[in-house]
Amino acid sequence: MAFIINKSMLKVRVVPKSDELKTKIRTRLLQSFLFSSLDEKDLDIVINAMEVKTFEPSSTVIKQGDDGAELFLVGEGTLDCFKVMKKGEEATKLKEYEPGDAFGELALLYNAPRAATITAKTEAVLYSLDRDTFNLIVKDSAAKKREKYEKCLKTVKILDSVSVYERSQIADAIREEKFNAGDHIINQGDIGDIFYMISEGKATAYKRFEEGGKEEEVMKYSPGDYFGELALLKNEPRAASVVAKTDLVVMKLDRNSFRRMIGPLEEILKRNMENYKMILDS
Ligand code: CMP
Ligand code: CMP
Repeated sequence: MAFIINKSMLKVRVVPKSDELKTKIRTRLLQSFLFSSLDEKDLDIVINAMEVKTFEPSSTVIKQGDDGAELFLVGEGTLDCFKVMKKGEEATKLKEYEPGDAFGELALLYNAPRAATITAKTEAVLYSLDRDTFNLIVKDSAAKKREKYEKCLKTVKILDSVSVYERSQIADAIREEKFNAGDHIINQGDIGDIFYMISEGKATAYKRFEEGGKEEEVMKYSPGDYFGELALLKNEPRAASVVAKTDLVVMKLDRNSFRRMIGPLEEILKRNMENYKMILDS
């Protein structure tokens, strides 16, 4: 390991590695929501600083209550996350990690003890990022993004049942877009890859029920509402058009983030789809 002074006159950690390994790490970083807002320069700094650590099946990577000095990105393998919710109780399994997932960020973001235990389910190849590089490159933007969107996400009713932690991960994955009154956000019949939640403004959905027929208004949206889920759930073209009625700010998730974060809410989404039918039947 070495430290180098880079072009921005920053002293950064460099763990020597082959180009092949750098490419593998880059692929995983690009899959991870936590690193999604980094530019090329910062990605290179993170890749240089990362260290490969291998864990045997059943071994512990992070223990709840310990101090933490590194964050992990999964290169290969799967891991389990357990948490003791109340002192003296058995640990509850919260989730599994797959390649491209990151964990161990909370201790670094909030200078807190590890909030859960992570164990390897299979042999796991992890890329570890040290606290100093995390603080320099990732911490501020990640913390700001979580703070900004967690508030907005609390107003989205479909997310009522997700945990505080899952909401913060959705915040990592969000991209924001602004529209002007009158802009078409979705056009009926188009291929769609994005799910939308409104943070500011109003929008309306229109649907043409038969080819060449007139568009009819089918839904009105305000902050906290969502749309664009059907194309992702059913793999079909957009079933309606959505138009901004006022200037609008939306929080967007791409297909992959939607599948991983909102996919588990499929039952609620399907129940809500009944509303579309009711409009048709009425
Ligand atoms: P950290 O507290 O550093 O170490 C344990 C990690 O478990 C934590 O960061 C998160 O990355 C991860 N984790 C997953 N689910 C939860 C949860 N519900 N609460 C806290 N940590 C969680
Ligand atoms: P999607 O088909 O992906 O894109 C258009 C969106 O309009 C659709 O998802 C729903 O979120 C929304 N929508 C609102 N009302 C209707 C309706 N009656 N039929 C279909 N989609 C509707």
